[in-house]
Amino acid sequence: MAKRALDVRRAMRLVNHGPVVLVSCRHENKSNIITLAWTSPVSAEPPMVAVAVAPSRFSHGLIAESGEFVVNVPASGLLNAVWYCGTVSGRELDKFGGAGLSEAPASSVQTPLVAECFAHLECRVSASHSVGDHTLFAGEIVAASAENEAFDGQLTLKRPYITLHHLGGHEFVTAAGKRLTAK
Ligand SMILES: Cc1cc2nc3c(=O)[nH]c(=O)nc-3n(C[C@H](O)[C@H](O)[C@H](O)COP(=O)(O)O)c2cc1C
Repeated sequence: MAKRALDVRRAMRLVNHGPVVLVSCRHENKSNIITLAWTSPVSAEPPMVAVAVAPSRFSHGLIAESGEFVVNVPASGLLNAVWYCGTVSGRELDKFGGAGLSEAPASSVQTPLVAECFAHLECRVSASHSVGDHTLFAGEIVAASAENEAFDGQLTLKRPYITLHHLGGHEFVTAAGKRLTAK
């Protein structure tokens, strides 16, 4: 089998396809949503996830100031909202309204959940590190919830709870193997 050298800037796309998430954030009555592909579990005890957010994003300031964020997991049917929240800025727009998404109260943080997503990790920032051109916010998961049909200790991946994975650019694939292109 022949292998070829890759442009290292593109090579990270080989491990890019964890589920794309909608991260909600809120500070001083301003709520926002940012689409993120770069997320990872980073600690089992305490349970923690990390999100990589560029300082230029409006959401970066909201997360840094509030010390909170919520990782919301969208099903593949939310592709248009995922693309919208990843291509416009909350500096100028109300992304909840613009994406047709609704705020729902979280149980343990002030930041709202994105109601249309099927699962939510409520996080409090416990560490942040500048890494290259992004900030890694590590958040302790202080509460979590999911649709019964979507998660029974593991993702069920039963329709309609099929996760969406970003391949790079406009290209996505669902956990059911269907290629989708965002417009
Ligand atoms: C599929 C997808 C994945 C993205 N992943 C990230 C990411 O992991 N980190 C990041 O900082 N920006 C990421 N972005 C870009 C932000 O979502 C985008 O710049 C957004 O408009 C920022 O919104 P804000 O200014 O309201 O915070 C992604 C965009 C898309 C479409």
